[in-house]
Amino acid sequence: MPGPDRVPAHWQPLCERSRTLLQQHQDAGGAWPASPHFAPYRYSWFRDGAFIAEGASAAGLVEQADRFHTWCGQVLEREAPAVGRVVAMLAEGRRPDDSDYLPARYRLDGTRQLDDWWNFQVDGYGTWLWALERHLARAGRDAVRHTPAITVAVRYLVATGTDTCRDWWEENRDRTHVTTLAGVAAGLRAAVRLAVLPAELATAAGDVADRCVALIRERGTRDGALVKWLDGTDVDASLLAVGALYDVLPLDDPLVVATVEQVEERLTAGGVHRYEADTFYGGGQWPVLAALLAWHHARSGRTGRSAELLDWVVSTADDDLLLPEQVLPLLAPAVLDEWLERWGPSAHPLLWSHGMFLAAVATYAATG
Ligand code: BGC
Repeated sequence: MPGPDRVPAHWQPLCERSRTLLQQHQDAGGAWPASPHFAPYRYSWFRDGAFIAEGASAAGLVEQADRFHTWCGQVLEREAPAVGRVVAMLAEGRRPDDSDYLPARYRLDGTRQLDDWWNFQVDGYGTWLWALERHLARAGRDAVRHTPAITVAVRYLVATGTDTCRDWWEENRDRTHVTTLAGVAAGLRAAVRLAVLPAELATAAGDVADRCVALIRERGTRDGALVKWLDGTDVDASLLAVGALYDVLPLDDPLVVATVEQVEERLTAGGVHRYEADTFYGGGQWPVLAALLAWHHARSGRTGRSAELLDWVVSTADDDLLLPEQVLPLLAPAVLDEWLERWGPSAHPLLWSHGMFLAAVATYAATG
């Protein structure tokens, strides 16, 4: 863990609990379920898992993060033929079916779950590359043994990274999402820096990453702030990742500054909502997003605001120090019952909440 002197004492129990929980719920093969007790989430998402691994790595769980990245590598190596088929179809101008693409989530044993989940979302593969580079740097490991998996992920993102797909929230299939473009750009740039790619693929990766960032700047803004999808109008709290996590725009870029202001004004009241029209479980406030906003403010030198947000995350833990996916207040209370009937109470604990808390605390401690 980061220097304890820099972490307020009242955050320590949740830091310790989060570390224990990530160890306890990691599958023997290295995968993390999004939530151990919520049936729809007993799968490993590349997005959730990459952020959990980032939190684990930042909190000193080096072996656990290693095991997750190894698991991802095994999945990707197994998926190489599927990626080859998608790349070939797109090169021939044929449109793959959504089931041809890589899924968002896998069974814990690394195999695909064949169902009608909202699977086509590419950000997780970029976020995985982003998290892998950070982990390897932190742990002083080189990337060579991950070369086959990195190559598969890069080939996939070079072919699909600027297409429409579902967003961080597994919605809006037919849009091109700004946060997703940022995740793709960050992942591709990380892969190029890891210096294990064949020269031609590295060049293509750099070009696609530049294209993602150009699209964000050209079509991903409105009135000087970032928007949820290209040519859109709405703000989304996931956009906080563009600067603070993915580093595809500088933290002090006027677009990032204006976006953070909008998230603070329109989506934040104690905790942080995903977006104004959210109805999932009534559209509550997400600890993951409060931690993300705290991460932004810590890196921007506003440690007081960062601490307030992390205090809020701590306040959402139950008596057993478990963090939920979301909490009250709701934006659309009338829709809550529909979800309760469908799936029962929402995910609790959500391991991404714990991973994001650990990662944000580490950032706070490093900058505070
Ligand atoms: C969220 C996703 C997340 C998944 C598993 C969904 O409800 O929208 O961002 O990956 O749950 O936690």
